[in-house]
Amino acid sequence: MKPIAPTCAVLVAATVCLALAGTASPAALASQPEALPTLSEHMGEMSDAFRTISRGYNKADKLDDVLEAIGTLQQNIVASKSMVPSRLSEMSGEELETSLTEYRVRMAKLLDRTAELEVALLTGDEDLAHMIIRDELYPMRDEGHELFSD
Ligand code: HEM
Repeated sequence: MKPIAPTCAVLVAATVCLALAGTASPAALASQPEALPTLSEHMGEMSDAFRTISRGYNKADKLDDVLEAIGTLQQNIVASKSMVPSRLSEMSGEELETSLTEYRVRMAKLLDRTAELEVALLTGDEDLAHMIIRDELYPMRDEGHELFSD
């Protein structure tokens, strides 16, 4: 006679052990919190969006893509403006407060100019869009990096 009962018992025990050992079911995996993006990652998203914007803002067939990219840029600016640049990580007290305020003011102004760009594109003012991108957004990015990135 075959030892059916012991085999079943071993299978059941193995299943229970795996479950207790934390083998995650798909449902458990789905409920695990994901790590929040870092400032660097938000900046990476901003960079991709800004590339889409600066390459497509003067092309009628790219308007939808550009408007979507402006939304992505804005969302990442909002997320970034209350984060702490790693270059400030050694600071404390008043020095940190002053630098964080300066950083946030610059990010808020950047957000403001992206909203102005959105209006320019929605109202068909290509010259204004060109001016905002070349004379404001690029310099704001470069100055921000000189002051705050490593
Ligand atoms: C359209 C505007 C901007 C774009 C496209 C942009 C893009 C980028 C990119 C590609 C990086 C490198 C990310 C990496 O791989 O680590 C970066 C880093 C950084 N950017 Fe920007 N940036 C913009 C505006 C600004 C502004 C205005 C500021 C400051 C006021 C700023 C502060 C920083 C800082 C602090 C880092 C280093 C991240 C860290 O400390 O962990 N960026 N940015």
